[in-house]
Amino acid sequence: MKTQVCIIGGGPAGLMLSHILDANGIDNVVLERQSKDYVLSRIRAGVLEANTVQMLRDYGLSERMDQIGKPKDGTRILWENRPEFFIDVKKWTGKQMMAYGQTYITEDLYAARDRDGGAVICEARNVALHEIESDSPHVTYEKDGVRHRVECRFIAGCDGFHGPSRKAIPERSRSEYLREYPFGWMGVMVEQPPLDDFIYAYHSEGMAMAAQRNPMLSRYYVQAPITDTPEDWSDERFWDTLLHRFPADVAAKIRTGPTIEKSMAPLRSFVSEPMRHGSLFLAGDAAHIVPPTGAKGLNLAFSDVHYLQRALVAFFKDGQGALIERYSDTALRRVWSAENISWRLTKLLHVFPGEDAFAQKIRENDYDLLLMSEAAQHALAYEYIGLPFEA
Ligand code: FAD
Ligand code: DHB
Repeated sequence: MKTQVCIIGGGPAGLMLSHILDANGIDNVVLERQSKDYVLSRIRAGVLEANTVQMLRDYGLSERMDQIGKPKDGTRILWENRPEFFIDVKKWTGKQMMAYGQTYITEDLYAARDRDGGAVICEARNVALHEIESDSPHVTYEKDGVRHRVECRFIAGCDGFHGPSRKAIPERSRSEYLREYPFGWMGVMVEQPPLDDFIYAYHSEGMAMAAQRNPMLSRYYVQAPITDTPEDWSDERFWDTLLHRFPADVAAKIRTGPTIEKSMAPLRSFVSEPMRHGSLFLAGDAAHIVPPTGAKGLNLAFSDVHYLQRALVAFFKDGQGALIERYSDTALRRVWSAENISWRLTKLLHVFPGEDAFAQKIRENDYDLLLMSEAAQHALAYEYIGLPFEA
């Protein structure tokens, strides 16, 4: 098979890129290792930046989001024995965020790909990249026991943290930056009405968070030791811990119940540079990971796709390669901004095992600065909503 762009990975980054390339008449094929049902059952992100919302609207993918998504002016931070703080995105930037789950976005993207006749090949096994340093790379895979070959001009590696694309770049040609945290987020889903707001709660025993998916579906997280598994957390233990970490007046409003999903997400910050090697581009979690504090991961995947589609459209439609050359540097500037804010929010809102009293005093002082300084409030809101795209 021959195509212009072979996209590896049918998560939000790969599907969005496919959709936009298609809208610009650029031929592409998506290879996804899992079944569509599996991809649609993964529960992940829930908050969209204004840029992400705009991209979905620009490309005709916003109908359901605009019906059932909930625009939000910002996010609350509650702090044990201190006043609460609101990251007021609306006030400081004039923008809003949107509560709309990644699962819905992926469903919307698959529906659009099906409707438009997009080539999405699921259950593609043993995907491998070849001759990525040439102008005519190819990708091989197996499906139902038969080996296939896709010849293309470019490969887009949108295959998440564990996929083969990043590893296809020779080690001598990439630099990796990693920070692992000694805790994770234990998350549950429960069929109960959520709180009105997204809330991070700092507590001396660990962070807790309230999120939402729809009027009858709530998502909650608690900071947990990295070695814990969902089996360590009965529903009873989860709810006891969560309610204990929220102030009593807010805890009283949390509607608990039997959980329908429970999972542990390790926290890590990771960047692999550069994001292009020869004819291979990386986008989304394939190139970088942020801890979930700040809700940047999916949004960053979309911003990579924005820069990448722009480069590919300029190349195929206008014969211009300048944006191809600049893709990695441009995307990485925004990646590092998101790494920075996610890392700072993670430090601010979590308890780090073994940390000394000095570090705790600095944490409390960072929070106090937010409470009293409009300049600090403005700066946080500006970073939290996501930097504007570079022209
Ligand atoms: P993925 O979603 O990982 O998709 C990659 C795809 O590639 C997958 O479908 C995978 O099956 C496929 N693949 C892998 N290997 C192969 C292979 N060998 N061959 C073919 N295909 C392959 N982000 C936010 O912006 N906001 C949030 O609120 C937020 N909350 C989060 C909460 C949690 C608990 C977690 C875990 C993450 C959260 N994130 C959030 C992060 C967000 O979910 C990810 O950043 C996002 O999924 C990245 O999209 P992606 O398409 O790059 O990668
Ligand atoms: C979710 C929301 C957040 O604000 C965040 O930082 C992480 C996850 C969520 O909706 O799942």
